[in-house]
Amino acid sequence: MKKIAVVGAGYVGLVTSVGLAHIGHQVTCIDIDHKKIDSLRRGQSPIYEQSLEPMIQENQRQNRITFTSNYEELQDAEIIMLAVGTPQLSDGSANLTFIYQAAERIAHTVQQPVTIVVKSTVPVGTCEKLHEYVQERTPHPVELASNPEFLREGSALKDFFEGDRIVIGANHEETSQLIMEMYTPLQIPIMTTDLASAEMIKYASNAFLATKISFINEIASICEKVGANVEDVANGMGMDQRIAPSFLQAGIGYGGSCFPKDTKALVQMAGHVEHRFELLESVIHVNNKQQNKLVDQMKERFDTLLRKRVTVLGLSFKPGTDDLREAASLVIIDRLLREGASITAYDPIAMPRAKEYFPAVTFASNVEEALSESEVAIIVTEWDEFKELPLHYYEELMDEAIIFDGRNCYDLEQVKKHRIEYYSVGRPVIR
Ligand code: UGA
Repeated sequence: MKKIAVVGAGYVGLVTSVGLAHIGHQVTCIDIDHKKIDSLRRGQSPIYEQSLEPMIQENQRQNRITFTSNYEELQDAEIIMLAVGTPQLSDGSANLTFIYQAAERIAHTVQQPVTIVVKSTVPVGTCEKLHEYVQERTPHPVELASNPEFLREGSALKDFFEGDRIVIGANHEETSQLIMEMYTPLQIPIMTTDLASAEMIKYASNAFLATKISFINEIASICEKVGANVEDVANGMGMDQRIAPSFLQAGIGYGGSCFPKDTKALVQMAGHVEHRFELLESVIHVNNKQQNKLVDQMKERFDTLLRKRVTVLGLSFKPGTDDLREAASLVIIDRLLREGASITAYDPIAMPRAKEYFPAVTFASNVEEALSESEVAIIVTEWDEFKELPLHYYEELMDEAIIFDGRNCYDLEQVKKHRIEYYSVGRPVIR
């Protein structure tokens, strides 16, 4: 059992805190947001993530986790995990303000030798500089490690407990060893490397996954023109173990707080060392095109979208989360509004957040209400609730069932059995 402090109670910080407490460590999770800490103390999670709230409560009952806004409480921690945000600056690079603010506070608080573990995604070279920055500000010996996070929203706890690998970057063998001990109960393969390589593994992994998505989306666009079915193509490709089947699902592009931000940051980072990352620039360009694709298709199908009654099904950037950051729904709704469409939207989880973003949208309380008297439905997030919706609902509830499915939720053979005009991604149109 180790005494660990986690700075930042966002997605990564909170899941890390709860996960580490659950495997037996004594964890103090610190965040300067008092409101967040107050709700966590009451056992309420500020984010939607399956199983997270009960696990917070269970570990609170076992006295393995506490939440605070007071940095003094990290004084006796052996390990301090840094999990604060690194949002995007206007030029695409990562904003390190929160990292340095937290580092400064840590330096002024620690009273004994400590190891700082950077979980936040930071540009290559940051950990080295951060180490110097903290050490210059405290007389106590500080070690630093990079331990990038690979969890996905919607399956964050599963990824914590059953991840494919744990990456630890450090300058000294003893530092890696300490972090390895912390993770021992998880029985996940651990790879150790230097600081810069660990930082790069995070960016390269996200950029590669984004590349797979943009690649299959380009193949999908060609499939539409040559009469092929991208799902069969992706299945056939994925059977090759060198390619693997995951992240080959064509759709309206990737969103969320990671891929869009990290791909742009890596392009920026490469630029700083005078390397133009042309492949990744194209990946980003393709993704922007993809997020606009359905509205472009709708404009081709209808003479005008003016006063068209459009139902948007799904708002979050993917199922299992209420996160709307960089979601395709933002681009789509914004464009539809500019075209003069009248929009009703429904999402099983993300509506409270979405209401802040879209004052001009009507929010329905269920799918049926969202579809009734609608002229065209557009599926933006592949929630199970939409995938399992009997197709006759569309026929019965809509004036004339026309669906633009950005996530290939339905089997084409099933659609053919109904009076539905159906446009999906990389598959033949059904009329
Ligand atoms: C991603 C990575 O998968 C995690 O490993 C990483 O830790 C995380 O970023 C991060 O850097 O923090 P996340 O953004 O939660 O995780 O979500 P993903 O499941 O990777 O999905 C990202 C986007 O890609 C979603 O919009 C999803 O709809 C889209 N996607 C994914 C596709 O369009 N097709 C696919 O085949 C897979």
